[in-house]
Amino acid sequence: MKNNRTFTMIKPDAVENGYTGAILAHIEKAGFKIVAMKLKKLTTESARNFYKIHEGRPFFNDLINYMTSGPIVAAILEKENAVSDFRALIGNTNPQEAKEGTIRRIYAKSIDANAIHGSDSDDNALIEGDFHFTNEEVI
Ligand code: CMP
Repeated sequence: MKNNRTFTMIKPDAVENGYTGAILAHIEKAGFKIVAMKLKKLTTESARNFYKIHEGRPFFNDLINYMTSGPIVAAILEKENAVSDFRALIGNTNPQEAKEGTIRRIYAKSIDANAIHGSDSDDNALIEGDFHFTNEEVI
């Protein structure tokens, strides 16, 4: 995956609440092109692997339970400055601290169920994209 790409997941709360279409429209309107996408349900093992950087933190078990509680939408997005522009688009991890108009401010209710994930670096975007998609699944 190139440096102009980032990885995202629309999380179980947002999928369950029927916000998938609106969130994807928000993302596309901001100039991101979807180059890979799938609806999937994470197993406990795959969620623990994906979030292993957070292992040992007090919220880890809640995070795994939540992320395996229902389907997620995983996607790879393309745009110049994808990682930083997408972090700005989704807003602060805690929706109460996210700026007006950001995806988390609009669609999330709590820091645990915060509607959407965005990679925090180009390196992690690559790792996370490769975690969910094979080369054949990426345009
Ligand atoms: P995200 O950054 O997408 O991935 C890790 C998630 O852990 C984060 O979103 C939050 O939903 C959740 N989380 C819960 N508590 C915290 C915390 N104190 N700091 C960071 N992330 C937290």
